Amino acid sequence: MTVVTADPATRPLDVVADFPAIPAGWAYLDTAATAQKPRAVIDAITRGYDTDYATVHRGVYQRSADMTLAYEAARDTVARFVNATADEIVFVRGATEAINLVAQSFAGTTLNAGDRILLSTLEHHSNIVPWQMVAERVGAAIDVVPLTADQRIDLDAMARMLRPEHKLVALAHVSNVLGSTLDVRRASELAHAVGATILIDGCQAVARLPVDVRALGCDFYVFSGHKLYGPTGIGVLWGRRELLDAMPPYQGGGSMIDRVSFERTTYAPAPTRFEAGTPHIVGALGLAAAIDYVQAIGLERIHAHETALVAQAREALARINSVRVLGPADSAGIVSFAMEGVHPHDIGTILDESKVAIRAGHHCAQPLMAALGVEATARASFGVYNGPDDVAALMAGIERVARIFG
Ligand SMILES: Cc1ncc(COP(=O)(O)O)c(C=O)c1O
Repeated sequence: MTVVTADPATRPLDVVADFPAIPAGWAYLDTAATAQKPRAVIDAITRGYDTDYATVHRGVYQRSADMTLAYEAARDTVARFVNATADEIVFVRGATEAINLVAQSFAGTTLNAGDRILLSTLEHHSNIVPWQMVAERVGAAIDVVPLTADQRIDLDAMARMLRPEHKLVALAHVSNVLGSTLDVRRASELAHAVGATILIDGCQAVARLPVDVRALGCDFYVFSGHKLYGPTGIGVLWGRRELLDAMPPYQGGGSMIDRVSFERTTYAPAPTRFEAGTPHIVGALGLAAAIDYVQAIGLERIHAHETALVAQAREALARINSVRVLGPADSAGIVSFAMEGVHPHDIGTILDESKVAIRAGHHCAQPLMAALGVEATARASFGVYNGPDDVAALMAGIERVARIFG
């Protein structure tokens, strides 16, 4: 890996050669949807299926014992990455499954009719729908924290809204549309002050900022591996030990049991209790390799790098009259925008002709689109492999869109 060791705010990272899926001249600006994979991750996955493959936790033969050690070492890597302990790390399919797990197994067993759940306007559908499902089942109500004028979750409004009936708060650490970053520490203190438990959706944060769950003070933290340069199909639920210990299983099957009989089954302790069936073994190895990769660069540097690119893009976009740039000035790695008289899909299609890949649509955040007064937005999101050339390619494409649409 080539990492330029210089002032992170002024010198780009120079790691594009680590990413075989990014050919020269292609500006990949859709990392918020899914990140491209560095060679180190692809190699870890290949090794996992090639020379090293075996099941975990069951085999009495050496290869399986070795794979079990590697799988559990991956759990240790994840735990160190977020400053947790391995017994608090549950491997899941992704953030969506992690939120569903907490919704069903925690909220579904502790909330009662009349209780309330607090979400925010900018949440991804994954952090809305699972709560609606459980709220309907138990008879709870959902409240929604509005945004500030600069499009962050309004924590002052949240402080005014919170009541003892609020048992669960679920908020995004970084918005997948606006890039706005939550003050998780303050949000956690506010939630705890009324006795609520708080889950943080860290999907867009873990690849962009250092995350320390103890320092953040939240109760659950979730993320997906594929947005962190790791494989799809693997993600993480971190939960405070005492919360996980008290939660019933989410799914039943092999591995998650202590003893099974037709009369009575007892369950394994957390985190095994929540990992029914043969896990995504190689996915966990790939995720650990991805974590090693970003840590070798340094999350502080990645954050500075992406923030600098977003600042460049926002400034250039703001110079085009027909463009409305969304989100706060310091948004983390993500910039959404709208162009007067042009559908975001047309922006995306025209940019694709110039080899610039952005996302256009509602970004699985339809309530946020409604609050912003738009059907959809165009979104450019940055990763470690992007540089000023990609911002220049984006802007050349946007100027072409402006010319085409007059
Ligand atoms: C903020 C946020 N939360 C949750 C998700 C869901 O992640 P996944 O589809 O990997 O489960 C996403 C993915 O776009 C996201 O950006």
